[in-house]
Amino acid sequence: MELNQLRVALDGPSGAGKSTIAKAVAAKTGLIYVDTGALYRTVGLYAYENGVATDDTAGIIALLDTVDIKLTYRDGVQCVLLHGEPVGDRIRTETGSVYASAVSKIPEVRAYLLDMQKKLADEGGVIMDGRDIGTVIMPDAEIKIFMTASAEERAKRRYREQIARGLDVNFDEVLEAILARDKQDSERDAAPLKPADDAVIFDNGPYDVEGSADYIVGLMKRYLAE
Ligand code: DC
Repeated sequence: MELNQLRVALDGPSGAGKSTIAKAVAAKTGLIYVDTGALYRTVGLYAYENGVATDDTAGIIALLDTVDIKLTYRDGVQCVLLHGEPVGDRIRTETGSVYASAVSKIPEVRAYLLDMQKKLADEGGVIMDGRDIGTVIMPDAEIKIFMTASAEERAKRRYREQIARGLDVNFDEVLEAILARDKQDSERDAAPLKPADDAVIFDNGPYDVEGSADYIVGLMKRYLAE
């Protein structure tokens, strides 16, 4: 097996830097990067655009009959299509995060998105980031990582990111939102956020993106050498 054929499951809480680090690993190894959070965010966006409230579970489930979500790749970059239109940054707002977390609690939503993710996993050569990748989507992945960083560290990063995007945000509110989402993601009944029994726990607090990516590539090389 080659480096670019491995399946890497990368789970962890919001803002741990999973997507940035996964993209860096993909660039170093030729793996395809799959951002599964973007799928939940797209269901959330659809609910929001249809005026369905975050706590209207039946209303959200009803939308699954009409929603059309496709995952495509353009020049190697993942692109989620909602009714044929790329969602782009519309899924990256704070409201988008709140909606994504709300819809991801619903088992019917998870079931709706399961096949799409499993198909990509079956093709191999992927680094997939999410919350239940090592436990549900790719329980037989060659490499499983549960990536963490303290809530303060994650809030600092998200705060800087949003300021850089020109958004008017308050640090304490960003931290509070992260703590609330951690709680919701780990306490839900459907596929809660938790490390797979055989996952490597990686606290990336002391590492930058490059160092974190090198750590993961190191795990992959060690796997192949064994
Ligand atoms: O990774 P992210 O912040 O884009 O994820 C958005 C939301 O979707 C987050 O609240 C957790 C949820 N999610 C999930 O439940 N399972 C996944 N595999 C990916 C994301």
